[in-house]
Amino acid sequence: MFDAEEFVNEKIEELKGQIPGRAIIACSGGVDSTVAAVMVSRAIGDKLLTIYVNNGFMRKGETEDVDLMFGRLGINYKLVDASDEFFNAMKGVTEPEAKRKIIGERFIRVFEREAKAYHAEYLVQGTIAPDWIESGDGVRDTIKSHHNVGGLPKDMDLTVVEPLRDLYKDEVRIVARYLGIEVSERQPFPGPALAIRVIGEATREAVEVVREACAIVEEELEKASKQKRMERPWQYFAVLLPCQSVGVQGDRRAYGRTIAVRSVESIDGMSAAYSKVPYEVLERISFRITSEMKANVNRVVYDITNKPPATIEWE
Ligand code: XMP
Repeated sequence: MFDAEEFVNEKIEELKGQIPGRAIIACSGGVDSTVAAVMVSRAIGDKLLTIYVNNGFMRKGETEDVDLMFGRLGINYKLVDASDEFFNAMKGVTEPEAKRKIIGERFIRVFEREAKAYHAEYLVQGTIAPDWIESGDGVRDTIKSHHNVGGLPKDMDLTVVEPLRDLYKDEVRIVARYLGIEVSERQPFPGPALAIRVIGEATREAVEVVREACAIVEEELEKASKQKRMERPWQYFAVLLPCQSVGVQGDRRAYGRTIAVRSVESIDGMSAAYSKVPYEVLERISFRITSEMKANVNRVVYDITNKPPATIEWE
């Protein structure tokens, strides 16, 4: 049985020795990086600077929520808006692995800049076991390069520290609860964020479309689970597909975009089953996406594949 108290106490002692100088951590406000930030800040105090990078791919209201949460956690933090440089770097890039690599590299460049300004020598990351297992470790095949693993440039001059490297998601949540971190029950969100939920080029406009659709999926599934019409799924979101399809609006032909809704049950993200969401909840999501959004979306499909053979994210 995993013992959070023992893990936290031992790790904090270990971190004190491992990080003699100043360090930075990029924290997205998700469970993994927030747990890592809180643990390292308990170990070395304000010698750790927590950076939140707004890459332009974050969810609706996320940056504001993270700002409030960091304030409540009482950690030393800074918000950096790097959205222009991320969107520029993604111009014309459509291949999923290329997108992941570019985002990872951009992140590191931003951290390097911030680390230099802070005179940090260490880069803390919230990497957990499935991240490096699925990124390939020389023995296993690369399923996808998680940006916090596969994208690290060779010339990076910061020493990487990964306190959660051996933990699985359910264990990280146990640690988060033990530390009283409010995002302990939040659904997982990938490092490359909404950029990998736009299939193909992640333009500002396309990201805005998937941001709105993700907000609707989250609202409706959370509402349905609060009303006890279903269990809250493990992870749930929208994906913007690169295909258009024919529809009808009033008595006119329409040609609009397609959104896929993905909702899964899982324990650690290594395998997953698609959620058996009640039809009326799916219908409500479809109605809202096609009627409320400014973008011209005229088709909503539900992904009914498990992992394997699919993965949870589409890219
Ligand atoms: P997949 O899509 O590989 O996802 O079945 C498994 C879990 O990992 C999340 N995910 C990521 N998390 N960096 C992360 O920190 C990444 O690059 C990344 N890619 C996928 C995904 O959302 C799911 O919870």
